[in-house]
Amino acid sequence: MFLQRNNKHLAAFGRSLLKNKNRQLANKLVLSKRTLLTSTKKQQQQKNNFKFKTASITTSIAALLVLTSYYNSSNITNEPSKKGLRTISLDEFKKHSSPDDCWVIINGIIYDLTNFIAKHPGGPDIIKANSGKDVSALFNPIHASDLIDKYIMKKDIKGIIDPNCDFPKELITKALSPGETPESMAFKEKLRQNLPSIDELKTIFDFEYICSKILPKNAWYYYSSGSEDEFSLRENHNAYHRVQFRPRVLVNVKDVDTSCTILGEKHEVPFYVSATALAALGYEGGEVSIAEGCAQGSFKIPQMISTLSSKTLAEISEAKDKFGGQDQWFQLYVNTDRSKALDLIKEAEAKKCKAIFITVDAPSLGRREKDVKLKAKPSRENGISKGLSSFIDPSLDWEDVKYLKKQTSLPVFLKGIQRKEDALTAVENGFNIVISNHGGRQLDHTVSPLETLTEVVPLLKEKGYKPGENVEVFIDGGVRRGTDILKAIALGATGVGLGRPILYSNSAYGAKGVEKCKDMLREEIAMNMRLLGVNKLSELNESFVDTQGLKYRSVRLSNDFLNEEVYEPRNIIEWDMALEAGDDDS
Ligand code: HEM
Ligand SMILES: Cc1cc2nc3c(=O)[nH]c(=O)nc-3n(C[C@H](O)[C@H](O)[C@H](O)COP(=O)(O)O)c2cc1C
Repeated sequence: MFLQRNNKHLAAFGRSLLKNKNRQLANKLVLSKRTLLTSTKKQQQQKNNFKFKTASITTSIAALLVLTSYYNSSNITNEPSKKGLRTISLDEFKKHSSPDDCWVIINGIIYDLTNFIAKHPGGPDIIKANSGKDVSALFNPIHASDLIDKYIMKKDIKGIIDPNCDFPKELITKALSPGETPESMAFKEKLRQNLPSIDELKTIFDFEYICSKILPKNAWYYYSSGSEDEFSLRENHNAYHRVQFRPRVLVNVKDVDTSCTILGEKHEVPFYVSATALAALGYEGGEVSIAEGCAQGSFKIPQMISTLSSKTLAEISEAKDKFGGQDQWFQLYVNTDRSKALDLIKEAEAKKCKAIFITVDAPSLGRREKDVKLKAKPSRENGISKGLSSFIDPSLDWEDVKYLKKQTSLPVFLKGIQRKEDALTAVENGFNIVISNHGGRQLDHTVSPLETLTEVVPLLKEKGYKPGENVEVFIDGGVRRGTDILKAIALGATGVGLGRPILYSNSAYGAKGVEKCKDMLREEIAMNMRLLGVNKLSELNESFVDTQGLKYRSVRLSNDFLNEEVYEPRNIIEWDMALEAGDDDS
């Protein structure tokens, strides 16, 4: 209780500093918090244990979280300039605080979002609930700084809020995730500052476990959830367990070579980073630190950049250049407004992306129920799918993708192929393909990508195509082990993507985590190549795997504890929140 009160006083002190525009002092406090935490981290890592520092650190963290969000918000780039904008009084701003007439403040600038609410890719509810508020703390960590420029019309930039007004604190939205309290966040922050040394991590599942403990609920649920019953989420990985190896013996495997050729160029390993939206939800460096992790270390891996990244393409591309560059590819969600899709392709070309991946499995957002329940309030309509489908065109068809392909000289992939018939049509029309079900986040109960691969490759070969020579056949979904990658390669995949493992390693340890993740996978690949009796990946073929069990999906049903895995009644979440929140934080 004492700590809680103390937090409140510090938080109030922080807010009053800001109100008095004494930002320098506020920023110093943030920096001293960082120094304090960095030294704490070092000491703890030296000791190599999980003991926590004294409670006073918790106090500082909780109170200063408020300040940090302001500190971050003052470093934003690519936003509309404040120059020439008229100053708007608090009284005038307050008149536009309903969903029908919705003004918000982001980093001091007032926007009229009334017409944008229904189109918001993150769903209309979140903006409706924050009409008439300063949403900077909520907006900044998860939106790329050029999004406003791209999607908000000039006429909807109304002006700047009067800097001399006494802005009411109840109109400032907190960055707090639903389901979290300042105390629960302070504890997670404490865990984050006392992570196990990265050398203690032995498999990439370790990153996932750590993230389940340190990520705010909104990030953890957004990343970890699959759609509906999460059958596909589990099946994606389980399918790999139903394929067994048939190793060769008495082969000299002193030197094994994990390299391969992708899109005509040599790569040290056959895996890459799949596009994932909102990487900054889990780690402030977001896609920029993923880019650094891909580029750093003894070898590089390609990074596919999502249309919905939380950093700008310019920032992500610049991060890659800092370390001598790895391949970057651009994932495209085709906007209802086609000119936006064309602009994105041109931007990707200008930033030297080497391929375009058009996502074709998301005409509507899959219903990820854990995520939906966390955010939804009983009285509000859940409009996330509606919001996203106005951003991603649900009418996209074969003619559209053929048209888009003609607009670029880059290789174009269709990402999200889930049946052999579509694979053949795609390849016949000059596309490369990614066999994927979006990591089990779209249609639930789809056949696993690995199983689809075993149907696609023989059909393509029968029609005279040669994966790796005249077409690329990538796969993603459920890949967690070097052996998973080897199985996919043996079955004809020419590149293997990882989504969540990269998000988790980045969220826990930033670029170093991504680097560690790729090292672990390469080591597993090399070790298992020796055990398989192959020196080069090109030696792998179907004879090295037994896929007889792959089709027998039903045998797993008895082990499927569906309710325990997926079901979270909403009222329990709210009960939990109320208990954790304790008394009023005002
Ligand atoms: C100013 C114009 C805005 C633009 C262009 C914009 C754009 C976007 C985009 C592209 C996403 C990613 C969607 C996804 O991957 O699922 C997103 C998500 C999100 N946005 Fe915005 N947004 C805007 C304003 C706002 C405002 C004012 C708020 C808060 C009041 C907000 C809160 C959110 C949240 C919480 C998410 C995450 C949704 C989720 O996790 O499912 N946005 N937004
Ligand atoms: C949190 C999250 C966000 C994602 N965002 C995108 C996206 O913006 N565009 C896209 O094409 N795929 C997206 N995907 C799908 C991934 O590209 C990939 O297909 C999937 O993560 C592979 O499964 P895995 O996570 O089991 O490795 C996302 C996946 C996750 C988990």
